This record gives sequence, structure tokens and C-alpha cells, in this order.
Amino acid sequence: MIDLRHVTFSVPDENSPESGAMKTIIDDLSFTFEKGKFYGITGPNGGGKTSLSKMIMGINPITSGSIFLDGGDITDLEITDRARAGIAYGFQNSARFKGTTFRDLLSIAAGTDDEKALIRIIARVGICSLDFLDKPVNAKLSGGEIKKIELATIIARNPKVAIYDEPDTGIDLWTIGPMVELLRKEQAERGTTTLVVSHNRTFLEAADVIVLIKEGKVAYSGDLDGALPILTDLSVCTFGDICEGENDAECYR
Ligand SMILES: Nc1ncnc2c1ncn2[C@@H]1O[C@H](COP(=O)(O)OP(=O)(O)OP(=O)(O)O)[C@@H](O)[C@H]1O
Ligand SMILES: [Mg+2]
Repeated sequence: MIDLRHVTFSVPDENSPESGAMKTIIDDLSFTFEKGKFYGITGPNGGGKTSLSKMIMGINPITSGSIFLDGGDITDLEITDRARAGIAYGFQNSARFKGTTFRDLLSIAAGTDDEKALIRIIARVGICSLDFLDKPVNAKLSGGEIKKIELATIIARNPKVAIYDEPDTGIDLWTIGPMVELLRKEQAERGTTTLVVSHNRTFLEAADVIVLIKEGKVAYSGDLDGALPILTDLSVCTFGDICEGENDAECYR
């Protein structure tokens, strides 16, 4: 269980650096992610989903508020200690490591270099160990391949809380369904509290709870049916005041 209590994340405002003004990205947000549930975190671009995920992992230092994992205060824990406590995070833009193979990363994540154990984990993810195990995790990997590799390294750790930031980015259409099933299975069999940031309906339909993040706040939490009208509303053009909907205005949206 992750309990966020009045968490705020502010950064120096780039538009007026001399003034010392701050820009609030996550704004006094309180929310409880219950143990063993599957959350679909969604909302408009720039709403704060990645910032929030990184706060939970400890990548973004919070400006104020507290974060609890299973009742224990982890607010002051560094990333590594949060990882040891059972939180895992998959980046929206997955990291690549020159000179490192998938086998190296997976061995670190799983805590073993026993090939049979590594192959069993790869099989759980549904990718081919012959094809992937000795692939270098470098810039040559395709966008979808790096996402699958990152997913495997998270699953290998059997985390208490798994956060996936847009795991479907670059993933082919045929893989999205099995990926959702895999995360659901991990959640059901291991009780993993699963937070998936996504704009993809397949992921959102699989979620127990939809959390809609807008302007650094939870704009809605509940089932998908309740979220859809709000999501539809958010997709309405917000630049109408500027172009005033003139017939000859060039619309890029
Ligand atoms: N370290 C930072 N410094 C300055 N601004 C930041 C920082 N991190 C995030 N932001 C800004 O905060 C806002 C929220 O960004 P965030 O990446 O959390 O959005 P998001 O909801 O994940 O969007 P998307 O759906 O596009 O991935 C954006 O306007 C972004 O530019
Ligand atoms: Mg994001």
C-alpha cells in the first residue's frame, strides 16, 4: 500500500528564474493506493503523472508532505532504499546502458545469474530468451524491445509496488493485450500493487481503479465509466479563446 499525504512537488519557475518563484507540479495531493490493486493512472499530457510516479520512487524529491509504504514512512528514503523496501519503477523513456546485456540487468534484478532461473523469468514476460538474453541494452534496441526488457527486470524483482510509466509506448498492438494479462497475473498471484500510467484503453479497462491526474491533482478516482466523460471533456480544445474558432484559422490539433 502506498499512502500519499499532502504531497507537493515544486521546481524553480524557468520563466522567471531571477524572481525565485516556484512552479507547482504536484499540488497538495493525497491518495491511497491499496495493497494488491491495479491502478490505471491517466490524464492529459503534462498533468503530472510521471512527476507523481517519480515522487513515489524517490527520483523527484518532494517539497512537502509524506509518503508511506505499508504504514512505514519512506519520505526521507533515497531511491535505492525505496527499491530495497519493494518499490520498482519503469521509466516512460527507458534507460539504455552501453556495454551491458539484458542478462547482466536481469541477473542484478533477480539476484541470481543462474541461467535456468533467468529463462524462467523471461518466459513469464513472454519474450524469447534465445533472442533476448544476450542482447546489448544499448541505443540499437528498438523502442518496443527496451520496454519489454525493462518490464522483465521489474518482474524479476517481485516488487511489492510496481510502477510502469507508459509501458505500452512503442509496443506493437499484438503485444499490448498479453502485456496487460501479464501484469494482471503478477498482481493476482503475487499481490503486487500495480500502478500503470497509460493513455491506452486496454490498460485502463483492466484497471480496478482509474486515477485521473490533472494539473497536479487527482481530478477523479473510480471506475472507467465515470472517468470517460471527464477524459472526453479534457480532449476539447483549450486554445479556442486564442484562435476564437475563426473559420480561416489554421488548426493544428
Ligand atoms: N524537473 C522538472 N522541472 C521543471 N518542470 C518539470 C519537471 N518535471 C516535470 N515538469 C513539468 O511538469 C509538468 C508535468 O510533467 P509530467 O511529465 O509529470 O506530465 P505527464 O502527466 O507525465 O505527461 P505525459 O502524459 O505527456 O507523459 C510538465 O509541464 C513538465 O514540463
Ligand atoms: Mg509522463
